[in-house]
Amino acid sequence: MLIGVIIGSTRQPRACPQIAQFIVDTIRSSNDYRSLAQKPVLKLIDLASWNLPMYDESHVPSLIEHYSDYDHEHTKLWSQEVQKCDGFIFVTPQYNWGYPAALKNAIDYLFNEWKGKPAVVATYGGHGGSKCNEQLTVVLNGLRMKPTESKILLSFPDRETFTKAAQGIDLCLSTSSTECIWEADKVQVETAFAELAKLLLETPSTK
Ligand SMILES: Cc1cc2nc3c(=O)[nH]c(=O)nc-3n(C[C@H](O)[C@H](O)[C@H](O)COP(=O)(O)O)c2cc1C
Repeated sequence: MLIGVIIGSTRQPRACPQIAQFIVDTIRSSNDYRSLAQKPVLKLIDLASWNLPMYDESHVPSLIEHYSDYDHEHTKLWSQEVQKCDGFIFVTPQYNWGYPAALKNAIDYLFNEWKGKPAVVATYGGHGGSKCNEQLTVVLNGLRMKPTESKILLSFPDRETFTKAAQGIDLCLSTSSTECIWEADKVQVETAFAELAKLLLETPSTK
């Protein structure tokens, strides 16, 4: 089983990579993960590295049955990357009550590669990114994905943290740190992962 952990912001500097890593580390140290006989692999997928152009395919993705039918090499590669994954954790900031355009663009490139797969929506912001969490969940339902009931909403506790995140400064999220600002939020991550793991077992593999 492979879970793609999608890093949803692409600007430089940014906070998203360290927040995605915090989520991965929290899952790996959880009892639910440790007790699994077959542990899913968690793979970070950084949209900044993919650097996809604005959607430039000539076809509607839902009508594409094989990745070789896409026009462009970047779409064929992106399709193969998403096909490899059995489920996803979308990690994204809230931008003006929505989620970043780069993430919507990366999603829109494909359809059948996402369809039927379970996913967790993990958002962050001044109020946990609740507005963009709702919006992304609507989009995943439109893709016929299976978003978990459990959401991950991570709030910056104060102005100082908000400013640090915006500047891409280390938020000291290391799971071993008792000073971690999101120590109490780890349970959200654990609960969402437990639900994702259950959905993964119930979902027939399309690979
Ligand atoms: C274009 C833009 C719009 C933003 N809009 C919001 C917002 O609606 N709500 C919020 O809580 N934070 C907002 N922020 C602040 C972000 O939560 C914060 O800068 C965070 O670090 C962004 O994630 P990133 O560093 O991975 O890009 C916004 C930031 C940017 C760059």
